[in-house]
Amino acid sequence: MKLKIMNDDQEHELEEGAELSKALNAVNSPILFGCRTGICGTCLVEVMDGSELDKKSNEDEKELLDIISDGQAPYRLACQMRMNNDCTLKYIGKK
Ligand code: FES
Repeated sequence: MKLKIMNDDQEHELEEGAELSKALNAVNSPILFGCRTGICGTCLVEVMDGSELDKKSNEDEKELLDIISDGQAPYRLACQMRMNNDCTLKYIGKK
């Protein structure tokens, strides 16, 4: 499955179900991670293109996203995402 990251305009081929926080360690990605457990907000991304599943957060993730983002775009914490479909992300980071 293809993951495109807008910031560096590169495409990465990742396995279905791969956790982004692990899979992106192996490639030179502009998406930075901190806690990797959904607490710090370092990995904040905007889902530019992807399925509804890619845009859907769990309740704990939603709570943090409400605090650290303006809530306008479909934001996610990349450390909480798995590859479900081809997806395009833009790294925002903690504001
Ligand atoms: S790395 Fe801390 S919230 Fe994702």
